Amino acid sequence: MYTLVLSGPTYYQNKIQNLNIAIENQKISKLSKSKLKSEATIKTKDLILPGLIDPHVHFREPGNKHKETFRTGTCAAAAGGITTALDMPNNYRHITTKKLLQEKEKIVSKKAVIDYGLYLQAGIPSEADTPLMKYFLGFGSFDDYEKCYSKSTGVNVFHAEDPELFQEVENPTIYDHNTIHPPEAAEAACKFINSLYSKYQKPTHITHITTRQEVHTILPNITKGVTPPHLFLSIKNLDVLGTFGKVDPPLREEADRIYLLTHLDKIDCVGTDHAPHTPEEKEADYPAAKSGLPGIEDYISLLFTELHKGNLDLSTIVRLTHAGPAKIFGLKRGIATGNDADFTIIDRKKERIINVQDHFSKCGWTPYDGWKVRGEIQKTLVRGKTVFEKEVGILTRKWGKNLFKIDGK
Ligand code: DOR
Ligand code: ZN
Repeated sequence: MYTLVLSGPTYYQNKIQNLNIAIENQKISKLSKSKLKSEATIKTKDLILPGLIDPHVHFREPGNKHKETFRTGTCAAAAGGITTALDMPNNYRHITTKKLLQEKEKIVSKKAVIDYGLYLQAGIPSEADTPLMKYFLGFGSFDDYEKCYSKSTGVNVFHAEDPELFQEVENPTIYDHNTIHPPEAAEAACKFINSLYSKYQKPTHITHITTRQEVHTILPNITKGVTPPHLFLSIKNLDVLGTFGKVDPPLREEADRIYLLTHLDKIDCVGTDHAPHTPEEKEADYPAAKSGLPGIEDYISLLFTELHKGNLDLSTIVRLTHAGPAKIFGLKRGIATGNDADFTIIDRKKERIINVQDHFSKCGWTPYDGWKVRGEIQKTLVRGKTVFEKEVGILTRKWGKNLFKIDGK
């Protein structure tokens, strides 16, 4: 007799199969085509996917709680079907030391609804032995980055823009953002990252590819991520979004967006780069308006909309949202016995209009408001516990745990 069995059409071994999944002690304990006896059952007609992993979020806490908190951010993630999210270190005070990382862990561990990891910000060479390292080129010197990288023991994740190549424009508007942060700055940063990789061969990931040129420049062993804004928005959308469309790296030409969307076979994962700022912070004049877009709650629907249009297949979606990030960050992959019972259950055909009123994120706006999409998350299970259910909402105050060691030992 199992504690819980989840039954329904499941994406398993590259196809949809009717499965019964027994869950015991937060893990998958058996997979079967025939019925399994259990104390509780979740039976669904909707599609069961391996839990979505988002390797790039900004939940803002500690510090900028007026934009988001770890609780609202992880609630938004759960509502978006995400079971694990990796949080960036550019808090109000940047997380540059293991001591700060431990302090952050103390605060956020009390609030996490889903599982998570916390990045350390690279730049202090003596603090390089944590599992998740984030390099914001421009925050420190390239020499220090090299020292960090050479000593690193985890995954090195890069924001690839070389500030040396940023341009000046007189009386700039949002339409100049792509000139001020040009594609050449991204490409130059990729070349720097290539040189680090060639010298030290550490696990290396570039988190937001925005152009065709970067895809061609980056060495094959460096993994590549894309974000929803660079797949679904371009400078064309600035007429509607204005400064709300300001993000670093910037929205690019429509041709680059289409290139990325049609060459996802060259990309290893999607990270949302959920970067909430308040409407007041976004509507300031350029360049004062803050950079960054929210998007964690609807990215899976944006991908399923492309699937519905015939532009994407299910195996690509699962690779980009689960298997790819799991592989890059060393998390146990897929629906298999012994792995954490993390599942995303989606009504994949449901047509709906994105409405910011439905959102859990504190920032209160989305660039996709009013978009007609396909796919609606019905349930999100983290280690066997239903943390989100469509008709009910968030079902826990705290369930998430840090999946990565934070002391670096
Ligand atoms: O646009 C961005 N916003 N790019 C970043 O690198 C940081 C992010 C944020 O934290 O808002
Ligand atoms: Zn980011």
